[in-house]
Amino acid sequence: MATQKAYRLHSYGGPECIQLDDVPVPTPASSEILVAVGAVSLNPIDWKIREGHVRDVFHIDLPKILGVDFVGTVVALGEGSTSFKIGDRVMAFSDSLEAFAEHIAVPETIVSRVPASLSDIDAASLPIPAVTAWTTLHYAGEVHSGMKILIHGASGVVGAFAVQFAKASGAFVIGTASAKNRGYVMSLGADEFVDYQTEKFEDRAKNIDLVLDYVQIGGSMDTTARSWGTLKPGGAFVTAADPALLGNVPEGFKGFFPRIATNPAALERIAEQVATGHIKSKVARVFPRGELVQAMEMNKSGGVAGRLVVDFKRV
Ligand SMILES: NC(=O)c1ccc[n+]([C@@H]2O[C@H](COP(=O)([O-])OP(=O)(O)OC[C@H]3O[C@@H](n4cnc5c(N)ncnc54)[C@H](OP(=O)(O)O)[C@@H]3O)[C@@H](O)[C@H]2O)c1
Repeated sequence: MATQKAYRLHSYGGPECIQLDDVPVPTPASSEILVAVGAVSLNPIDWKIREGHVRDVFHIDLPKILGVDFVGTVVALGEGSTSFKIGDRVMAFSDSLEAFAEHIAVPETIVSRVPASLSDIDAASLPIPAVTAWTTLHYAGEVHSGMKILIHGASGVVGAFAVQFAKASGAFVIGTASAKNRGYVMSLGADEFVDYQTEKFEDRAKNIDLVLDYVQIGGSMDTTARSWGTLKPGGAFVTAADPALLGNVPEGFKGFFPRIATNPAALERIAEQVATGHIKSKVARVFPRGELVQAMEMNKSGGVAGRLVVDFKRV
């Protein structure tokens, strides 16, 4: 039986709970494809799973291969799998994890093609953040020219996409982040910037149609509470951070915490826009495969604007 290297979680806890193990290469089931992983990227969900914070959502048996965002090359097709051929480059986020391995078997329905001009590193930076930004931006209704959108966490990996997608729809965008990221957020196209550490966003943001919340890890109850007052009557607050923030939606407003499902068509469109330079995707740092656990710790520490990517071709 062919074996491969994979990062497996053996018990819930800190970085020491993950080991690089030799495990069998998976066999693609019916309508699945087997992908040789070229690069993966880190998301907050990776260390949240590791530490057991989302045990109620991700029911996994240990040991379990971690990892959601990946890009790679199709190397085998399961029975009845017809959408891709061997050699195609694909990317996705895997709801059933197992991306932090040399190979992953996934349903062909969840993957998107990678544009030829996009490197594995750049493509790996896209799946979860790009689809999260797209889903949350469009969740409360149509986004159109003339709307005013307030985006919390505009310097984060999800927020950076949301700023660009909202601008592309013709909206007026106010982004909040810390002062060091002012230039970055404005370079993404934001019309106004608010430093959440020294300014009150509610003094500047008024008559807002939609608030998007990408504040890091769990969000901020205070930011949420102050956001309602910025909205027009009937306006919506959509958070990716935590459903608990929506415990007290004031009358006359809407609050949503969308489930982020795979959206291969949207991801493929976004990847084309990144390949042609119409959308920017920032990779902050690339790690060799052997430093994946350190990359996860850096993702947990926060404060890095841009994506942390692990190059699986560099051991
Ligand atoms: N529901 C889902 O499926 C899903 C998927 C992806 C992400 N998420 C969640 O979405 C959030 C963003 O994820 P991410 O990967 O983009 O994280 P990230 O890259 O760490 O970005 C978080 C951003 O929050 C900003 N921030 C921190 N405190 C803030 C405050 N009080 N007001 C405004 N901004 C503040 C930080 O800005 P500065 O660094 O400039 O201070 C940082 O850029 C996280 O809570 C994550 O768990 C959910």
